[in-house]
Amino acid sequence: MNENVFLNGEYYRGDEAKISVDDRGFLFGDGVYEVIRCYGGNYFKLDEHLARLERSAGKIYITLPYSRDEIRDICLRLLAKSGVKTGKLYMQVTRGIAPRIHEFPEGIIPTVMMKVDGFDEAGIAFSKKGIGVMTFPDERWAHCDIKSLNLLYNVISKQKARSNGAYEAVFVHEVGVTECASSNIFAIMGGKLVTPPEGKRILSGITRDTVLKLAEDAGIPCEMRYPQKDELFKADEVFISNTAQEVSPVLSIDGKTIADGKPGEATLKLQKMFEDEIEKETNFVIGES
Ligand SMILES: Cc1ncc(COP(=O)(O)O)c(C=O)c1O
Repeated sequence: MNENVFLNGEYYRGDEAKISVDDRGFLFGDGVYEVIRCYGGNYFKLDEHLARLERSAGKIYITLPYSRDEIRDICLRLLAKSGVKTGKLYMQVTRGIAPRIHEFPEGIIPTVMMKVDGFDEAGIAFSKKGIGVMTFPDERWAHCDIKSLNLLYNVISKQKARSNGAYEAVFVHEVGVTECASSNIFAIMGGKLVTPPEGKRILSGITRDTVLKLAEDAGIPCEMRYPQKDELFKADEVFISNTAQEVSPVLSIDGKTIADGKPGEATLKLQKMFEDEIEKETNFVIGES
């Protein structure tokens, strides 16, 4: 087995890397993370993810122990060492290791862990054809712009969705629909692409950002607002986006069919444009691996 884990300056094989029981990521979920896709041996949107990592870490007062260039080099080295061509890198930075007290211990050094794994292409081929989702009240904390390790409500909601035969959990706040357990949400209504605005209620998805740029290129007007749940049921098209699954059409919400129950025209167009963007950046052609 190849070295596919980086932990605090060292490279390891598989699960040989060990983390202290006093790590605050383990004790408190005191840290941030990123998931970055790679296609055919090249990362997709690497710098965008590294910039978001810096923003998330800064918002919880963690100073990354490496510069952007150093982290990029480690990501590239780890991918080469792992031998993985098409897969994903999981990166986690915690406040570090110290006996358990709530306040930040003095002189603590952040733990930096990265792991590269191959990707289950069959899993995304399924979701890219269309999925069902289930709604839940958005009972998360009010700083969803931070890609924090604290994912308890997301994890529980996603599990409930899966137990009920849905693929993803959609959160409904008093302001409207915000996002999903691990993806952003979009609707096509009256010829416009509607998606919640950036801010504390959503994670600024790297995929969301790419989709918005592609929509602009395609001449699809965009409206940044929180759609109401009732509106989604009547939308012409609904889709979700994230790093792992890219663009996935939503065919039903809470068991109710959206439009004719097939992926919509604009969704398919944006999905194709997204795949072209992957090819442009990584030279990898989806479906030809
Ligand atoms: C809560 C949440 N929203 C949105 C996203 C999509 O973000 P990205 O496109 O950067 O993967 C994620 C990704 O994991 C997420 O966890």
